[in-house]
Amino acid sequence: MAFRDLREFLKLLDERGELRHVTAEVDPELEITEITDRVVKAGGPALLFENVKGSQFPLATNIFGSAARMSLALGVEEWGELEHRLEELLDLAMGPPPKGILGKLGALGDIIKVGRIGPKEVSSGACQEVVETENPSLAELPIQKCWPDDGGKYITLPLVFTHDPASGRRNVGMYRLQVFDDRTLGMHWQLHKGGSEHFRQSRQEDQRLEVAIAVGTDPVLTYAASAPLPPDVDEMVFAGFLRGKSVEMVRAKTVDVMVPAHSEFVIEGYVDPAEARTEGPFGDHTGVYSLADEYPVLHVTAITRREDPIYLSTIVGRPPMEDAYLGKATERLFLPLIRLMIPELVDIHLPVDAVFHNFALVSIKKRYPGQARKVMHAVWGLGQMMFTKFVIAVDEDVDVQNLREVLWRVGNNVDPSRDVEIVTGPTDTLEHASAEPHYGGKMGMDATTKLPEEGHHRDWPPDVVMSAEIREQVDRRWSELGLD
Ligand SMILES: Cc1cc2nc3c(=O)[nH]c(=O)nc-3n(C[C@H](O)[C@H](O)[C@H](O)COP(=O)(O)O)c2cc1C
Repeated sequence: MAFRDLREFLKLLDERGELRHVTAEVDPELEITEITDRVVKAGGPALLFENVKGSQFPLATNIFGSAARMSLALGVEEWGELEHRLEELLDLAMGPPPKGILGKLGALGDIIKVGRIGPKEVSSGACQEVVETENPSLAELPIQKCWPDDGGKYITLPLVFTHDPASGRRNVGMYRLQVFDDRTLGMHWQLHKGGSEHFRQSRQEDQRLEVAIAVGTDPVLTYAASAPLPPDVDEMVFAGFLRGKSVEMVRAKTVDVMVPAHSEFVIEGYVDPAEARTEGPFGDHTGVYSLADEYPVLHVTAITRREDPIYLSTIVGRPPMEDAYLGKATERLFLPLIRLMIPELVDIHLPVDAVFHNFALVSIKKRYPGQARKVMHAVWGLGQMMFTKFVIAVDEDVDVQNLREVLWRVGNNVDPSRDVEIVTGPTDTLEHASAEPHYGGKMGMDATTKLPEEGHHRDWPPDVVMSAEIREQVDRRWSELGLD
């Protein structure tokens, strides 16, 4: 099922008992964070704060904050289904040519289906029910100051739309925005991200970069902005694929950028190539503050909205937080794509407590010497997986989703003097342990069964397992033992 907009999703959450309305007045400065943090950590519902101090608009948060809600948002019954989503598309792209007339017709139907997922331009949209171009003011919005030492108020779940100045291709990224004043925002697109690349190009040409920011959309679109798609893959096509229906887009009022027609709010503006300002600190998803640094500045040229908009927000901080579920959805959805590049990869787990990109646990079908190391380097070479600080490779029969099992194997199978690979390369902007920003060390650990060619000439001991015969015997006799 495709949701038209955020409110349709909230309605479904309400019907399923997954949304709680808070009518008491709450302060967007710190108080909403403390309330939401407690609810998220307790595995509680999405929250709709209807009476936010200083604003006429309600604020929704924690809409993705459980496996059930994340699955609902992406239109699947359970996590496992996510994995098959991209698999289907890849099969379609790569499968053998269909045999016979029926096969051909089937493939034709699939291609038409794929054709239907591209964004569709519409002439008007609810996001422009109210248009303010004369005196747009961010002060109207219930923007949170999340943590005590934050540099200010931040928009935390925005979809930032830009176009490649040369090719015109769209990028949509989720980059937090700090409120500098009623008409200026700090644009926190990090060095390696799509928006930042567009900005770099516009700076080379000494051109302003036009930007539009949607806040509060169909949850699939909001998720898509956070997804680590390869550059030049349009997040709105990806969203169309996930929801099985085109995303309706409308032209913004003051910039040449299309925005989702059913957004709650749209902020339009431009980034000047000559300008930078101190952004941060910000209580980040690492659980520590990201330090203040210089970032571009967005000048607001218009704010458009619905007549009765709902502002969508999230808080990040010490994991697990709401973004844990966005990350888990990415881990599941992108697995088939990773397997395309690393065919021996069976499963991957980016543990939420390790802030996703700090650890990657991978199980592999090992067939030749050095294969675990080949996989580590492949992981480091794969888009945003380059940020992975620790890659741990285990054999195919190890369940990487089970941390206990992984630790058991790592502890037993690794000779640290032989099985550890230390490399240097790009690091995430939020990485604070490396001596230099954006550049530092990574570690791979080969916890697979070692081969003689890998310098292991002793026998590899078998696991301690009871024989099938005795297990069956005890199964049969269990009831007579009085141990139920
Ligand atoms: C809640 C949330 C906040 C995020 N904030 C930022 C941010 O401020 N800056 C940034 O570069 N990435 C941020 N990210 C990660 C990006 O959205 C993610 O890397 C995405 O793939 C970027 O898209 P792009 O590859 O099109 O640039 C955030 C992700 C989430 C879920």
